[in-house]
Amino acid sequence: MYQIIKCLVSHLLLFTIFSAFGIKTTIADPNIISKSQWNGVESINELSQQALPIGRVIILHTAGAGCQDVDSCSQQVRNIQKYHLDLHFDDIGYNFLVGNDGNVYEGRGWDLMGAAVKNYNNGSLSVAFIGTFENDPPTDQALEAAQSLLEMGVRTTKLTEDYKVLGHRQLASTLSPGAVLYKIIKQWPHWTRRAR
Ligand SMILES: *[C@@H]1O[C@H](CO)[C@@H](O)[C@H](O)[C@H]1NC(C)=O
Repeated sequence: MYQIIKCLVSHLLLFTIFSAFGIKTTIADPNIISKSQWNGVESINELSQQALPIGRVIILHTAGAGCQDVDSCSQQVRNIQKYHLDLHFDDIGYNFLVGNDGNVYEGRGWDLMGAAVKNYNNGSLSVAFIGTFENDPPTDQALEAAQSLLEMGVRTTKLTEDYKVLGHRQLASTLSPGAVLYKIIKQWPHWTRRAR
């Protein structure tokens, strides 16, 4: 009996040590909803390849309605793709979108150049939060998902280790990513004041 308890205790101890270690060193990848999962349409033309690793991340908001679950976020992403195709983009403009449900929605992905910010698409990863963030922040889950997406990008060498984060409004005349979200990303370690 004593042996069993001793064994259990040591296992529990090891488990605790490993979990504590695990929490410190690995942050879970975000849940990425692929284009086929949100039911997107194919791009119209072949898209330019991005030169990897990417050194700049641009944070935007979509300036439309927000969403709170996979169904409503997928609907928003389909609407945005249709809107961008109507504007004669070859595909949805963003590389990734983030929903208030805490999921990341794949746009053009890591490897293809986005069409989100004129003159800055080459060399930039565009990440758009779904909704309008002038007065209210995204959910904590959305903010965590965006951060873990960027960490995943560094780990998979899609992003440089010293990538710079900029708000859309630093590069164009726009309210995007919204006053409240802009204030939040200015606290992120990779945010930079200088656009170039
Ligand atoms: C993007 O920038 C790189 C480096 O300046 C350049 O070599 C490449 O041709 C550009 N790609 C496009 C599609 O403009």
